[in-house]
Amino acid sequence: METNLLSSEKAVNQPSYSPKILDLTAKLWFTLATVGQWIFGYYIVAFYHISTFSGDFEKWNKVLPKGYVAGDWQGNLMTGIHVVLAAVVVIGGPLQIMPFVRNRFPMFHRILGRVYVFTAMLISIVGLAMVWTRGTVGDMTQHVNISIQSIYIVAFAVLTIKFAREKQFIKHRMWALRLFMVANGVWFFRVGLMAWLVIHQAPVGFNPETFSGPFLSVLSTVVYSVPISLILLEMYFYAQKKQNQTFSYATSAVIFVFTLVMALGIFGATMGMWLPRI
Ligand code: HEM
Repeated sequence: METNLLSSEKAVNQPSYSPKILDLTAKLWFTLATVGQWIFGYYIVAFYHISTFSGDFEKWNKVLPKGYVAGDWQGNLMTGIHVVLAAVVVIGGPLQIMPFVRNRFPMFHRILGRVYVFTAMLISIVGLAMVWTRGTVGDMTQHVNISIQSIYIVAFAVLTIKFAREKQFIKHRMWALRLFMVANGVWFFRVGLMAWLVIHQAPVGFNPETFSGPFLSVLSTVVYSVPISLILLEMYFYAQKKQNQTFSYATSAVIFVFTLVMALGIFGATMGMWLPRI
């Protein structure tokens, strides 16, 4: 079906039925996620690219407790690579998913696809090294959870490329979407945290000084190691495959609720986190 996120003009073996409401909610979710990710991308470019390429590395420390450490060139290099390349994943991800871009500019899709997959893997491996060698905010639960996510990212990236090479495009698109979900875990974490803060108007369920507590343990689990985003995506796939109207409506309703929470979180993160730092 032309309108769904898995669609392609030349797609074959695609389900021929999918209630409009499922396509609409998926599109709404994706449009909002794209807007939110590009705002995050804008922040990364305006804050990290400008400070890095102008040599003002100490500016990283306005945000990162262990961003720039005098004398630790390896650690600083890892941080630089991580934050500069993050823009490729955050800005390039939605472009890779858009059926319009994929169908109209196949060469661009192939080039950006390779760059995206390689960058997502590199960032994850570098991020993993940063967590366990440099240390970062948060407690052990958060560190273990994000580490598990980095394994998903590398594994899903390999599968995405494998199926593209084998020209199994339906599987390729499914793994590309799974990769998109896990590669955006850090974005979901920020959006989830800010939605919570907007709702409660206070740091409920965690200690902002130590950046730990039950809420953050749960949040890091449901965005990193047992990602809700991936569960929703599997529901979306299943709804398309099964063509069961009730399940499709239920899936649409769940996606819609998460879209509302995401809208709140994007608003909170943009106004309270990203724009003020630029
Ligand atoms: C692949 C998608 C990822 C993106 C787009 C990304 C993006 C970012 C960004 C923008 C920052 C700067 C913090 C901020 O300004 O909000 C950051 C910091 C960091 N990221 Fe990632 N990241 C990704 C994955 C990971 C993974 C998988 C890990 C660990 C396994 C990780 C570990 C870290 C660490 C340790 C920091 C530094 C935090 C500190 O110094 O306290 N990242 N990341």
